[in-house]
Amino acid sequence: MPKDADAKTAPAHVAIIMDGNGRWAQQRGRPRLFGHHAGAKRVREIVAACPDLGVKYLTIFAFSTENWKRTQIEVAGLMSLFRRYLEREANELFSSGVCVRFIGDRVRLDDKLVNLMDELELRTAENDLVHLTVALNYGGRDEVTRAAQRLAFEVAQGRLDHQDVDAEKLASFLDTHVLPDPDLVIRTSGEARISNFLLWQSAYAEYEFVDTLWPDFTAAEFAKVLKSYGKRDRRFGAVRA
Ligand code: FPP
Repeated sequence: MPKDADAKTAPAHVAIIMDGNGRWAQQRGRPRLFGHHAGAKRVREIVAACPDLGVKYLTIFAFSTENWKRTQIEVAGLMSLFRRYLEREANELFSSGVCVRFIGDRVRLDDKLVNLMDELELRTAENDLVHLTVALNYGGRDEVTRAAQRLAFEVAQGRLDHQDVDAEKLASFLDTHVLPDPDLVIRTSGEARISNFLLWQSAYAEYEFVDTLWPDFTAAEFAKVLKSYGKRDRRFGAVRA
């Protein structure tokens, strides 16, 4: 039983939109990448807090399909940060029982990064303490579009009857097909929007928008948000008996 959590009320799957790195850096008169580096340190702390808080699945939004619109310097800096993070954290993630997965379209990512992603997925595949999913070049619409393309291909090949395409079948073609739907989606930095994150999977998720900028989002605040989630009444469209 997790140390700091009520196992009954802890959300099994928490998804986080880690927003506010740029503003955090700006407040300190530093370049935006300084904020992303501080944000990466927070990722380590939040992942490490999951077992004691009863969070089995953590999904984090690291780079969206729209983030390519940022300056070349910021995009290149983020890609290099992801590479270094995977190189440096691989041993720790593996030995602490974290199973790492990536969602999103890998086609536009550079080969070195994709190799590191593949290696880490393979190396941690048997781990089961916490399942960390990193969304990289991910967009909810892009994910559903890619799933629809593959479904259409299966139908065209005669391997699937179009009448058998239902919600469950479509979900099985999503990047997240092995994950449960998120129970709670947290967004930091005071912005109240979902920005194309887990659109299909979050149909019945609870949302928590916190003002804290991501580099300041501590494990203690994470625990507080989870506690407030525990008080919510989730009905999934039904009414109380
Ligand atoms: C949004 O803040 C943040 C991002 C687009 C990048 C998220 C990346 C990290 C937290 C770095 C580390 C991640 C991993 C997996 C190692 P923003 O830049 O849009 O902030 P702003 O809204 O204040 O400008």
